[in-house]
Amino acid sequence: MDPHRDGHAENGRHDGDGGGDDTNGPLPKRPRPSPPISTAEIRDEFSHHDPAVARVNNGSFGSCPASVLAAQLRWQRLFLRQPDDFYFNRLQHSILRSRALIKDLINADDIDEVSLVDNATTAAAIVLQHVSWSFTEGHFNKGDAVVMLHYAYGAVKKSIQAYVTRAGGHVIEVPLPFPVTSNEEIVQEFRKALELGKSNDRKVRLAVIDHITSMPSVVIPVKELTKICREEGVDQVFVDAAHAIGSIEVDVKDIGADFYTSNLHKWFFCPPSVAFLYSKKSRASSNLHHPVVSHEYGNGLPIESGWVGNRDYSAQLVVPSVMDFIDRFEGGIEGIRKQNHDKVVEMGKMLAESWLTCLGSPPDMCSSMIMVGLPGCLGISSEKDALKFRSLLRDRFHVEVPVYHCSPKDGENGSSSVTGYVRISHQVYNVEDDYIRLRDAINKLVQDGFNCTKLPSS
Ligand SMILES: Cc1ncc(COP(=O)(O)O)c(C=O)c1O
Repeated sequence: MDPHRDGHAENGRHDGDGGGDDTNGPLPKRPRPSPPISTAEIRDEFSHHDPAVARVNNGSFGSCPASVLAAQLRWQRLFLRQPDDFYFNRLQHSILRSRALIKDLINADDIDEVSLVDNATTAAAIVLQHVSWSFTEGHFNKGDAVVMLHYAYGAVKKSIQAYVTRAGGHVIEVPLPFPVTSNEEIVQEFRKALELGKSNDRKVRLAVIDHITSMPSVVIPVKELTKICREEGVDQVFVDAAHAIGSIEVDVKDIGADFYTSNLHKWFFCPPSVAFLYSKKSRASSNLHHPVVSHEYGNGLPIESGWVGNRDYSAQLVVPSVMDFIDRFEGGIEGIRKQNHDKVVEMGKMLAESWLTCLGSPPDMCSSMIMVGLPGCLGISSEKDALKFRSLLRDRFHVEVPVYHCSPKDGENGSSSVTGYVRISHQVYNVEDDYIRLRDAINKLVQDGFNCTKLPSS
């Protein structure tokens, strides 16, 4: 691949989703398909899903409709048909078009604030690598703090360990109550952690806040926590919103964080894998770099991210096709969000009622996922049990759902209290029968006197 490209992006053509031949100029208006999409059409769009499996776990890997997969294939073929033409005349322009759509969707001020990267893990590495350099280049003092939630995603915690702890930073975890009943409980714990962070003359350099924690899944009041960070003198705020776009409203200006990332392949129907990283215009954002260094190093994160070597960029190019898919639903993305939220709450309540348990959070603290307590008699008493129980549901009942272990609170009796939760998701392809199968599987296990002690130990 020739690294010495001049004006590559701007000399190219627009690409009507891999097929068009439009000329330079403003982005073409996409014709709006008329909603609503029918149930049969939705079924067709997801007919590649294994029909034997009740898939109530959109949260882990997301899902991609057939029409978007077809668009992705068109991009891949276009590249393979004439790679040089694609590289010199189409790729950058087409990435720009996806970024423009995302910019509008998240209410960013400027397209230069939006980069497309592989996933939220990569976005976290970009932000944390910047923190690491700040320590090694002497902008931060050894012992300065980074605050993160106890329920931060495991891979992001490891990234903090790799980039912050190793560089001399001090990491403070915010313990969060679960089950949780109000935002106030979260805010209180967060304030306490910031106080701790600022003790011993330390400065808190970064707060890493999830918008929707993964496990257990709870919507965090990020706008309020960001505001508190500003009042308390925290240098920067990074919101890990891996689950956000497509499942809750995202308005980066309103939230006010410095960095905000969301996967597009979880709840936004993109194929794996693509995420956006928003970085508010500032001195810090101009110092962000992609961890994979290539020819564009130093030209700003969005441009660096648009070329990290020869690879398949098609997942980044299908955003216009995703918008077309979304436009087929009544109310577009807001309509999808609302329907998923309402339905997951309804299904969560139905399950909790049948199992005589409870929800892990009030409905207004959940998105398109909700935590539902499992009967205590199942004896889920460790994370290992939770994982084995999840495999049991997959292997014996063909139900796919993540399971969470939660230690009983002091004074609670393990056999009667809830020690395990399922995290159920609702996406447009789900039907009530998926949740009924889950309900019945658990009820059957309870009736049969199942207990996790009966699971093989290895
Ligand atoms: C809160 C959170 N952060 C980060 C990630 C990582 O996402 P990915 O594996 O797509 O990089 C996840 C994945 O589920 C997540 O839930």
